[in-house]
Amino acid sequence: MLDQLRQVEKEALAALEAVEDSDALAAWHRRYLGRKGALTLFLRSVGELPKEERPAFGRAANEAKARLEAASEARAEALRQEEMQRELERGALDVTLPGRPTGPGHLHITTQTLRQITAIFAEMGFQVYEAPDVETDELNFGLLNMPPHHPARDMWDTFWINDEVLLRTHTSPGQIRVMRERYPEPIRVILPGKCYRYEQITARSEHQFYQVEGLAIGHAITMTDLIGTLTEFARRFYGPERRIRIRGSYFPFTEPSIEADMDCILCGGAGCRVCKYSGWLEVCGAGMVHPVVLQNGGYDPDEWSGFAFGFGVERPAMVKYGIDDIRLFYGNDLRFLRQF
Ligand code: DAH
Repeated sequence: MLDQLRQVEKEALAALEAVEDSDALAAWHRRYLGRKGALTLFLRSVGELPKEERPAFGRAANEAKARLEAASEARAEALRQEEMQRELERGALDVTLPGRPTGPGHLHITTQTLRQITAIFAEMGFQVYEAPDVETDELNFGLLNMPPHHPARDMWDTFWINDEVLLRTHTSPGQIRVMRERYPEPIRVILPGKCYRYEQITARSEHQFYQVEGLAIGHAITMTDLIGTLTEFARRFYGPERRIRIRGSYFPFTEPSIEADMDCILCGGAGCRVCKYSGWLEVCGAGMVHPVVLQNGGYDPDEWSGFAFGFGVERPAMVKYGIDDIRLFYGNDLRFLRQF
């Protein structure tokens, strides 16, 4: 038996030498080490031997198996090396070529726009205040003068986390946070940040986007301060010749509420595709802070007054750079992003 075992091992090693590719190696494996392989059958036949011969034969067979396995692994490695060598010779891989350089990155168009906006407001004395993206129903709606079931809530489609927590639909809840933190100081802040709405994604609306909120609280703040601030911003952001027009509007957290439009930067008011032939582009919603909101922030409306405004960030960038689809901003297409 032992002689036979030696014989099989010798034959297997010789056969391995002749193996030239991975298919042949697999076949070799089946023939000698597989479930019905020659060596496996030997191991199984130990039981037929006289009792006293079993241990020695078993050990010898196991050792032979280990040697064959090691030899086949070495052969597999050698085959891999040979294959790589052949590829190199074929020229498929030129390891002497220099690597592809990765160029330096740059700020995303949204970040650039946000920085332009914050720089302009900084010059007008506005600090940046950041509030969380995940808000409570109370801050996003309730304290902004929209109790549960208030119909104005329908203006904002919402991603709920649970019955009380949601992804903020606008940056306005930050107003309450700043007021509560700063009382009794006067306030002049902008609140930039991401907002979320449970909305269909189209060329004009995304379900995630940025807004910049503005809030000024003081002792004699009036609508003229608001209009002056918005006009100044539009001129610094879009160009000194811009004009602003004010329309009456409604927001639950301002009284009175307005919307500001700017003469179209493309046609100068004559009418074109971008302004839908109206000559005007929407700039923002705004108004004088509602007395209830002042109170919710801790400020006595008999002593204090303030203005607030809120606008998107992607839209102004679209107007300024002539981008016609908001989905491009977060589509991660480098051909788009590299243009800015
Ligand atoms: N939060 C409003 C929105 O997302 C925008 C807005 C309107 C903000 C009027 C204000 C404001 O602060 O006074 O549609």
